[in-house]
Amino acid sequence: MLEVIVQRGTTEASRTDRFDVPARDSQTVLDVVTWIQQAVDPTLSYRFSCRVGMCGSCAMMINGVPRWTCRTHVSRVVQNGRLEIAPLRNLPVIKDLVTDMDPFFDKWVAAEARHHPTRGRLEDSDPITANSPDRAEADLGIECINCGICYAACDTVAGNPEYLGPAALQRAWTLLNDSRDANRSGILAAVSGKGGCHNCHSMGSCAQYCPNALNPMRAIAGLKRETVKAALRRKRDA
Ligand code: FES
Repeated sequence: MLEVIVQRGTTEASRTDRFDVPARDSQTVLDVVTWIQQAVDPTLSYRFSCRVGMCGSCAMMINGVPRWTCRTHVSRVVQNGRLEIAPLRNLPVIKDLVTDMDPFFDKWVAAEARHHPTRGRLEDSDPITANSPDRAEADLGIECINCGICYAACDTVAGNPEYLGPAALQRAWTLLNDSRDANRSGILAAVSGKGGCHNCHSMGSCAQYCPNALNPMRAIAGLKRETVKAALRRKRDA
């Protein structure tokens, strides 16, 4: 039997509930949460969709560490027969294990981390050479599933709510290296502002906990480099 402590309620009013959950072979943390909701407490709220590590919706804090719960086996994370399950850190809690992702995605918009096309809707897009250096750089971040784990792991986000965070900055870096994106200067301006890339202290929690083994810290280092180069160019041309 597993002893499972689950955070309930909202940011303003939270509590913990304790559940005894039967241990099973190959059981994931998402299986545990689902068993609680189906067998004991149907009011428990949580998110999931794909169950195979694709959609990024099932991330939670497990014994204090952000993880994708559908791909996290209990046997890897249980401590003395006990699991503590809480909503993702650094985000408002709507209810129980469900966080409000709006602040996370608002920062993608603030970082200009959305595609700015070079061609119109009815025109063919520019061809991309498969083995070009830019394509290789952009590919390093393309597997982000927007799970919010890096954002929850980041102590800079915890200490500075204005910081854009690792996921938005990594996406901005991916677009900066995409020759089909037409707003390079806009991206550099957005990520060099008050909450931008220069807030990163290179602690590396984003890279440590990313379930897809991406390295947002490396992308942020690239943004720091390019924003400094752009500032020097502006100074030279002034
Ligand atoms: S349910 Fe889709 S990533 Fe876990």
